Amino acid sequence: MYNLDKIIDRKQGNARKWSNQVLKEKFGLDEDAIPMDLADIDFEVAPAIQAALMKRASIGDYSYSYVPDEFYDAVIDWNQRRYDTYIEKEWIKLTFGTVSTLHYIVQAFTKKGEGVLINTPAYDPFAEAVVNNERELFCSSLINRGNRYYLDFDDMERQMSENDIKLFIFCSPQNPSGRIWTKEELFQLADLCIRHNVLLVCDEIHRDIVYKGQKFTSIWNAHPEIPQHSVLCLSPNKGFNLGGLKTSYVVVPNPMIRETLLEQLKRNSITSPHVFAVPAIVAAYNESEAWLDEMIDYVEENMQLIYDFFEEIPESKVMPAESSFLAWIDVREWFKNEAEMTEFFHRANLTMVVGSYFVQDGEGFVRLSIGMPRDLLLEALNRIKREYMNMMEYV
Ligand SMILES: Cc1ncc(COP(=O)(O)O)c(C=O)c1O
Repeated sequence: MYNLDKIIDRKQGNARKWSNQVLKEKFGLDEDAIPMDLADIDFEVAPAIQAALMKRASIGDYSYSYVPDEFYDAVIDWNQRRYDTYIEKEWIKLTFGTVSTLHYIVQAFTKKGEGVLINTPAYDPFAEAVVNNERELFCSSLINRGNRYYLDFDDMERQMSENDIKLFIFCSPQNPSGRIWTKEELFQLADLCIRHNVLLVCDEIHRDIVYKGQKFTSIWNAHPEIPQHSVLCLSPNKGFNLGGLKTSYVVVPNPMIRETLLEQLKRNSITSPHVFAVPAIVAAYNESEAWLDEMIDYVEENMQLIYDFFEEIPESKVMPAESSFLAWIDVREWFKNEAEMTEFFHRANLTMVVGSYFVQDGEGFVRLSIGMPRDLLLEALNRIKREYMNMMEYV
């Protein structure tokens, strides 16, 4: 039993989401605002991780280090145990965060002007990795059918051939919706990439938080040939809330693809690991599974509260989530435009992410990050309710 109800003062650690300066400058809000924008969680970290970091800090040597075998063993074991995914040590490369890694991947496998495909709505840095490197971004809109997203395979296939797509950056489970792709969908997607000679980059960093009764399948278990045609991007950053350690890893079984990527990483001087990241990841994977499982149940209960709450606001529609801690809410019938929506949430002294952040197809939606202690969530919902009642009085 872990105390996930405990509210920790995240302002103390300069958490970006909670910083008074960010709240004021970015959102025009005061220090009592409850931030629901950034995709991180507000729980105290798993005790084993904190203990490992304190032990490491006590050594008093924070100079250059290397990646020890215990890191590889922890990664290999975690992937096998929890995801039934077979990985070899040589396939793993520790990197400095998924977003920067995506930039290197784009640099390694495409030339300026070449096409990269993503599905939208999408986590904006997927697009940035493409555009910042002067490659051409192509988007295949997810189909919203019955308040659930589906891949548009016909459109993706057409774009792969017409736009000469070289790389496809895929999000599984999907951010912002928390949709988990089925094994059949993943097979079809893998098959498409293989037939069109498109390198599949699969970002599975939200997979650690899968709700009860849902089945997550790693892309590698969906098609026997796809490991040889893909780069898997993984990290404990979402499940264990370690984003500030700026560390992630890629897994690349194909020696030619791996060599090309390693060359690019060398050009960008990706060398010794973050000294605190290795013990944190080892403690997360080897000793914190029970904490993670409890946290998942807690977040799923939070999500249920979100469904129940927005059920009472007929102008809103929450997309049922299968994973993660992000509520993706359709508010097209509620607000005339994004400015009105933003004003509403800011009046309630809450931050959130507006739908237009997600490259395209997100307009009219809002994303709330709900991985927080229950009392905090209830307070946030109360604020929304109060503002909603005020709004109703004036219409
Ligand atoms: C799909 C996805 N990929 C990557 C990241 C960020 O990863 P990192 O902190 O390792 O750069 C996020 C963060 O929200 C995300 O949602």
